[in-house]
Amino acid sequence: MRKRIVAGNWKMNMLQNEAVKLVSDIRAELQNRKQPLPENSGIIIMPPFPWIPFAVEQTRDDEIISTGAQNCYHQQKGAYTGEVSPDMIASAGAGYVILGHSERREYFEETGGFLRKKVDAVLQTGLKPVFCCGEPLEVRESNRQNELVKQQLKESVFHLSKEDFSRLIIAYEPVWAIGTGKTASPQQAQEMHKFIRDQIAERYNGQLAADITILYGGSCKPSNAKELFAQEDVDGGLIGGASLKAKDFIDIFFSF
Ligand code: PGA
Repeated sequence: MRKRIVAGNWKMNMLQNEAVKLVSDIRAELQNRKQPLPENSGIIIMPPFPWIPFAVEQTRDDEIISTGAQNCYHQQKGAYTGEVSPDMIASAGAGYVILGHSERREYFEETGGFLRKKVDAVLQTGLKPVFCCGEPLEVRESNRQNELVKQQLKESVFHLSKEDFSRLIIAYEPVWAIGTGKTASPQQAQEMHKFIRDQIAERYNGQLAADITILYGGSCKPSNAKELFAQEDVDGGLIGGASLKAKDFIDIFFSF
């Protein structure tokens, strides 16, 4: 059974005191629920770089919550002013890195080839990439979303060995649904997740495809998470806006 995950992408939000409070509120929400924890599941919180050590420290004894970063560079050290390496993220105690988020692709002009280098560097360090793919609105409107997502996978992750690929988490995030309040319908999400799984089966094998966690991202919230997570190929969510509210975030986690 593949792992089910709810990951919180905080983006560029939260000052230090707010970040520390959010982590402790998330922990308290989780502990105060009387329901049993969803089976085979985990939570990843992904704060901005400076708050990673705090989040790691606050969740050190936590069996459910792990910490991740939102980006990194593809070199491990050297004269790259302003960049953060996978080694640094690992040494701070985080376990995951988001790569290929549409905001990075769009605002920072990150290309498939550049992301491929980052994926390699992250895996080399022993971290797990949360690799994002997804189509903008005009591509969806012309029904070319499968073609584009396949291209994104080919450019940045399908060069990996089977062993390396098995350490990825994939996140399907239709760009038109991110931060817009517009969610993909459960059917649209399921269709794409199944398509991604089929591509993995074709490139690698059916077992690997069945074992890979594929998250949905894009205006996922407590009111729609249950329906989305009920889809056969949707293994959880990459949550932006709703991850900044402890109650909403934990409600989403209990939607499995
Ligand atoms: P959103 O963001 O939940 O605010 O739409 C999701 C994401 O960008 O990962």
